[in-house]
Amino acid sequence: MQLRDLNKIKFKDEGWDFRDAYTKYSNHGFHTYPAMMIPQIARRLIETYGKNAEVLLDPFMGSGTALLESTLHKNFKKAYGVDINPLALLISEVKTKPIEHKLLLDEFKKLMNKCADDKRDINFKQKEIEKPNFFNISFWFKPQVIIDLTIIKNNINQIDNQDIKDFFSVAFSETVRNVSNTRKREYKLYRMNELMLKRHNPNTINEFRNKAMENIDKMEKYFKEYNKDCKLHILPEDTRKKISVNDREVDLIVTSPPYGDSRTTVAYGQFSRLSLQWLGYDKKTVLDIDKVSLGGIPTRNLKNGLGSPTLKKTLKKISDIDPRRARDVLSFYVDFDKCVKELHRVTKKGAFLCFVVGNRTVKGIQIPTDKIIVELFRAKNNYKHHNTFTRNIPYKRMPRLNSPTNISGNHAVTMNEEWIIILEKQ
Ligand SMILES: C[S@@+](CC[C@H](N)C(=O)[O-])C[C@H]1O[C@@H](n2cnc3c(N)ncnc32)[C@H](O)[C@@H]1O
Repeated sequence: MQLRDLNKIKFKDEGWDFRDAYTKYSNHGFHTYPAMMIPQIARRLIETYGKNAEVLLDPFMGSGTALLESTLHKNFKKAYGVDINPLALLISEVKTKPIEHKLLLDEFKKLMNKCADDKRDINFKQKEIEKPNFFNISFWFKPQVIIDLTIIKNNINQIDNQDIKDFFSVAFSETVRNVSNTRKREYKLYRMNELMLKRHNPNTINEFRNKAMENIDKMEKYFKEYNKDCKLHILPEDTRKKISVNDREVDLIVTSPPYGDSRTTVAYGQFSRLSLQWLGYDKKTVLDIDKVSLGGIPTRNLKNGLGSPTLKKTLKKISDIDPRRARDVLSFYVDFDKCVKELHRVTKKGAFLCFVVGNRTVKGIQIPTDKIIVELFRAKNNYKHHNTFTRNIPYKRMPRLNSPTNISGNHAVTMNEEWIIILEKQ
């Protein structure tokens, strides 16, 4: 098929919208994450293009939606997930690691009793506790919240079993976000306004108890339904480089890459920062996430040999308005092209590669990432482009508004649609 024919086969299939679908079944919903894939999309892709697949890969795993889905299907023997963000790795690990209900419940009871004891001691015996002291902690958390989070964290640290410790760390991380002074519907860190702050008096221990209980209930069901034959490999690696997956091993890729705007709209690093600081990750790891994300470091010039005519045309339009922004955009695709090479190495002939992408707008120009990805794969290799489905994003899972000036409240419309690209390696 000629590249110019791509538009003809792009069609809208409202079957991909899943407008009223419940997206938190099984262990989905353990923890929020920016730009999550809805599980129904991963499920439909697996059931349509991976009926006989045995090895799945999500090279931009995030919170592990595709990975978790693979463990709910009988055909998979192996699933790989790759991400550079330690919070994504922790959430995915916990969502896909079955733990027996009784073990969790016993540890939970002990944990909550210890928290209640510590709280009593502090209130009545004026006992001091050693609080963490990361940059701006008092700006993002009220004094009572800091005390309560410290109590919970110290008691989680005393759990011996690492899997159970991680399980409660995920509920703790979600609690950190909910009790912080940040505005909850943003991926970037914005503090509440004065009025909101005055009214914000969360019961931190209760928040944690409810979240942990909800996840324990989910895990009880998951324990009975997961595919025991599917071995999970969660890799703290960078998909631009060589990942720990064998040559031609993968039958199916289901993934949603970053949208290329980690520094402006969907800031994984900023989203994860408070949780990771509370969880004790070192400052450099936490602050570097957006830098090591695709497109994190701008290219110096606009020369490229990426082999995508659509990218070339789009860059020209943006560069006529703002060359610096054009370089930003290019840096993302230069990095993505490195991933294309790596995904080509690890996939079998006949493998299906499914990408869910957003076409973001820069300087008023929409970047057709769906076309660019197809062109990048086909520039040097033989891939059949089966379909590109367009879907409406029914809920505010992606920001429909972004802040082009980086001033909170100064918003422009961004993405209301997503594209699902299906390629087959020939
Ligand atoms: C759109 S999110 C994936 C969301 C995921 N589908 C979910 O349901 O939660 C994209 C992910 O790509 C990761 N990422 C960015 N650059 C990466 C790289 N160079 N290698 C691997 N992962 C990367 C980000 O950390 C982020 O978690």
